Amino acid sequence: MSKSTKQLDDLFLEGLKDIYFAEKKIIAALPKMAKAAESEALAAAFEKHLHETEGQVTRLEKVFKLIDHASRGKNCPGIMGVLEEGQEITKEYKGSPALDAGLIAAAQAVEHYEISRYGTLMVWAQQLGMMGAAALLNETLQEEVNTHAFLCRLAETEINHVAKVA
Ligand SMILES: [Fe+2]
Repeated sequence: MSKSTKQLDDLFLEGLKDIYFAEKKIIAALPKMAKAAESEALAAAFEKHLHETEGQVTRLEKVFKLIDHASRGKNCPGIMGVLEEGQEITKEYKGSPALDAGLIAAAQAVEHYEISRYGTLMVWAQQLGMMGAAALLNETLQEEVNTHAFLCRLAETEINHVAKVA
């Protein structure tokens, strides 16, 4: 058996730091993705999610406050890898009809990362009896789920078709 005494609240704090770091990086990446997008609808979706993400950072800061901890991020290689893939697509598909389809795929990977993190954190908060924190995390989780669904619709109804027609 491990000698470590780390418990669920330690995992929760580490997870919060991880997603706080990730959200800050996403705020830096979204304007670049909006600028790169050819489709106005896609650029608008990225802009909208940028504003939502700023609100999500504020929510995370409230959660840190609820547990009496300074808002601090922790280097998260997972999100850096996902964002890097988005940058690669932007560079490699610049000027090509498939650029926007690639950008959506990259954004969907970011959303899945966040849905995974927020889903876990929300359940941990509930099980730690932190209902206020759980409610805040759930609000963000729903925004991420909605963003993902919106991007799926945009890809299927519009963007993927453009990618096929040169
Ligand atoms: Fe987010």
